[in-house]
Amino acid sequence: MTEESPIIELKNLTKVYKNGVEFRALDNVNLKIERGEFVAIVGPSGSGKSTLMHLIGLLDTPSSGTLLIDKNDVTKMSDKELSETRNRTLGFVFQYHHLLPDFTALENVMMPLLISGKNRKEATEIAEKLLKEVGLENRMDHRPGELSGGRTRGLQ
Ligand SMILES: Nc1ncnc2c1ncn2[C@@H]1O[C@H](COP(=O)(O)OP(=O)(O)OP(=O)(O)O)[C@@H](O)[C@H]1O
Ligand SMILES: [Mg+2]
Repeated sequence: MTEESPIIELKNLTKVYKNGVEFRALDNVNLKIERGEFVAIVGPSGSGKSTLMHLIGLLDTPSSGTLLIDKNDVTKMSDKELSETRNRTLGFVFQYHHLLPDFTALENVMMPLLISGKNRKEATEIAEKLLKEVGLENRMDHRPGELSGGRTRGLQ
């Protein structure tokens, strides 16, 4: 039997913010998240949860240590490889939505599909299916500003 490797693995991950004074927000964090696992990161305000999520979401870079996503060392990736991993491998639901305000719900969901190389027809079909799945089939032509907070999270 082959042993499955973790989908996310952090080895001695450290983040030091350096704006004038140095602040060690994460100090040698080790964590393994297995495929299919459901994990909640909890801790007091200022303990580094958002910092950790920004590193795992490839939105910020660690000061030292290793971060493996599906066995790939993301700390060694180029900007292009990071963008591809964000597009294809990761999903990130922000506390405040980061949707494109001038695009409709459908167009917002189509955007990452088009970036990943799908053509317009394929992207439309997949986006319509996904919007139906989250009960937004009647809101496809609405812009984010015309949707409720909960619905904007559905779009992400
Ligand atoms: N850009 C930054 N520059 C300097 N220090 C920062 C920066 N971002 C966060 N910090 C500091 O790093 C520590 C961890 O912050 P972080 O935002 O990760 O905490 P958190 O656990 O998400 O807190 P909360 O529960 O309040 O959201 C805090 O002390 C914070 O002040
Ligand atoms: Mg936070």
